[in-house]
Amino acid sequence: MSTTDTTLLTYEIINITPLNIILGVVCIFTTTIIYDKLYYKFCYYTHPSVLNNAYMKTGLEKWADDDFVPISELKKRMVWFNNKLVTYEDAGYLFDRFGLPINPYKRTGKYGRGMMGKYGANHAADPIVTRFHNGRYQMITVIRSDSGLPAIPGGMVDAGESYTMTLGREITEEAAEENSLLINKLKNGRIVYSGYADDPRCTNTAWIETVAVHVHLNEYESDMLVLRPAKDGETLKSFWYDITIHNMKVNPLYGSHGDLVMKAMDSFDNNWRKY
Ligand code: BGC
Repeated sequence: MSTTDTTLLTYEIINITPLNIILGVVCIFTTTIIYDKLYYKFCYYTHPSVLNNAYMKTGLEKWADDDFVPISELKKRMVWFNNKLVTYEDAGYLFDRFGLPINPYKRTGKYGRGMMGKYGANHAADPIVTRFHNGRYQMITVIRSDSGLPAIPGGMVDAGESYTMTLGREITEEAAEENSLLINKLKNGRIVYSGYADDPRCTNTAWIETVAVHVHLNEYESDMLVLRPAKDGETLKSFWYDITIHNMKVNPLYGSHGDLVMKAMDSFDNNWRKY
């Protein structure tokens, strides 16, 4: 060991004072906080429209969460479990180190809310309305203006709404003139799927859960319906679409809608593929 090394060693030993230890701990601690903050800021992406809505504190129109929602509140929110709505707590959902719910279905590589308004489950409802016409099963279908794809006329459940209310509201907004018979049928419709919607907007901390409800109309009931697209341009067209494998799979519907319709048909009529 040279003289210089010994001097350096002595210098270092002398400097391990209680104050330096405290400063060292503070330093590690603050670095972790700063690191966490940076991580949060850069890796958790939330679209500005979501943030703007969260900051707009005007009651009803606010569809997005504030940036911080206490874990105690999140735990009381509802998710689909065995075709029933239960709390996150009862479903045993996990939370990350920032207290945000972890997507239990899929790792998406994305954090934050992206385009989603709510942390955790964002609820949608999809009405599958079918009829048998000219020897074929058909369903009410819209063309979405965002993607140009054919889709079930579903949508997001608004604050204070039950999913059955959403089914009736969405079909009236997007696909048909108001029809009380259809709205009532949807209230008592058959749940054919509930749970994760594999949608490109889902992230590791915000995802979509949907409930798909099937009702079948007889010739008279379907004749009473007046189909038309949304007045606000959200849908471009509304029409009866043949339910064939080609239309459900080869020429797919939006998101997982083709699978939802096939699920509905499988449990309604085993022979639907033959028509
Ligand atoms: C659509 C629903 C769909 C959900 C998940 C919503 O924007 O309106 O029909 O099930 O996204 O893809």
